Amino acid sequence: MEPLITDTDKTVGVTGGAGFIGSHVVRLLVKKYPRYRVINIDALTYAGNLENIKDIETYPNYIFERADICSEEHIDRLFSGYQFDAIIHLAAESHVDRSIMDPLAFVKTNVLGTGVLLNACRKQWSHDMEGKRFYHVSTDEVYGSLGDTGFFTEETPYDPRSPYSASKASSDHLVMAYYHTYGLPVVMSNCSNNYGSHHFPEKLIPLMINNIINNKPLPVYGKGENIRDWLWVEDHARAIDTIFHKGKTGGKYNVGGFNEWKNIDLVHLLCRIMDQKLHRPAGESEKLITYVKDRAGHDLRYAIDATKLSRELGWKPSLQFEEGLGKTADWYLENQDWVHHVTSGQYQQYYTEQYGKR
Ligand code: NAD
Ligand code: DAU
Repeated sequence: MEPLITDTDKTVGVTGGAGFIGSHVVRLLVKKYPRYRVINIDALTYAGNLENIKDIETYPNYIFERADICSEEHIDRLFSGYQFDAIIHLAAESHVDRSIMDPLAFVKTNVLGTGVLLNACRKQWSHDMEGKRFYHVSTDEVYGSLGDTGFFTEETPYDPRSPYSASKASSDHLVMAYYHTYGLPVVMSNCSNNYGSHHFPEKLIPLMINNIINNKPLPVYGKGENIRDWLWVEDHARAIDTIFHKGKTGGKYNVGGFNEWKNIDLVHLLCRIMDQKLHRPAGESEKLITYVKDRAGHDLRYAIDATKLSRELGWKPSLQFEEGLGKTADWYLENQDWVHHVTSGQYQQYYTEQYGKR
């Protein structure tokens, strides 16, 4: 299939490019497409960190703009200045537990912020939508929770159950509304749980790695029986590259790892990997496992059917999970300075509120 967006001189705005997944997407685009001008638009919230993209900040095709996507005035100014050909939208409040503490922050950034960006594209591109593209990066959580069997497909009805997933579902609906109402050339993907380097240590895998290193309790919610489908973050970045260039306008693609794990089994596996890396006796880190109060409205199981993406666009996950976890553990062990920077200050307050003093 001919790419819809070609590798000619294009100005591509990436929102949330200082976050976990966004930094991998920015790195991939800047290195792979020297003729693209990549503008990273990020507010640098607690989750955004310019250290995540330090290795590419001097590339001539990369520019950083600190901006809040909820500020219509600031976003309009950036659109006038850069005349974007495309936006890849990742900026969001992304942590479910925080959405339970402060739901309106999620409504603001994920719903209003997405609306501001869509509207800026509509205004900027209204005369000529040829070659333009708004790519919305969304989550499998919009589909709700599965029982023991079945998979989320692109046709699964939306059934979000946390303030985070409800805000992402709302943003997905807004994106499709701009497609149907204004003919905005949009494309969207819904991905399962990512893991890898630069993952903020409030999320399960980096939190567990960090706590194992520091001999702190490993807080497993409920009985640890909830299931997630894990994908190597660089495979997600590759999927975004593929869908951005080849995805059908108005189309929607599920992205997943075909890799389901019960939380407690995953934590046991991480403990084994970390015992080896830290030269601890086998079984030592498992002693840190502590069952804590369950997450409110905790979705039982997510599992993505990503066959449309592999069948139509040829994408497949590349990395085997144990290898990916090993590489992730190595990254955290080698980048303790990064961990110390992002877990100081505000993070300590969040941790105490979420897990109590330990
Ligand atoms: P993250 O929390 O690590 O990063 C979010 C980034 O957005 C940060 O750099 C932050 O500074 C920025 N940001 C937040 N509010 C902003 C605002 N108002 N204006 C501008 N920038 C703002 O998130 P992530 O895990 O990298 O997720 C990125 C996207 O992918 C999100 O849209 C998320 O819903 C989606 N997603 C994440 C996963 C996952 O497993 N992490 C899976 C599927 C989809
Ligand atoms: O499915 C995609 C989603 O995956 C993304 O849209 C979200 O942005 C991302 O945060 C992630 O959401 P989850 O809630 O699935 O991820 P989290 O790492 O927070 O939790 C994974 C599982 O581990 C979940 O069942 C809750 C559990 N958990 C989590 C934490 C932080 C624990 O048992 N203990 C913990 O301390």
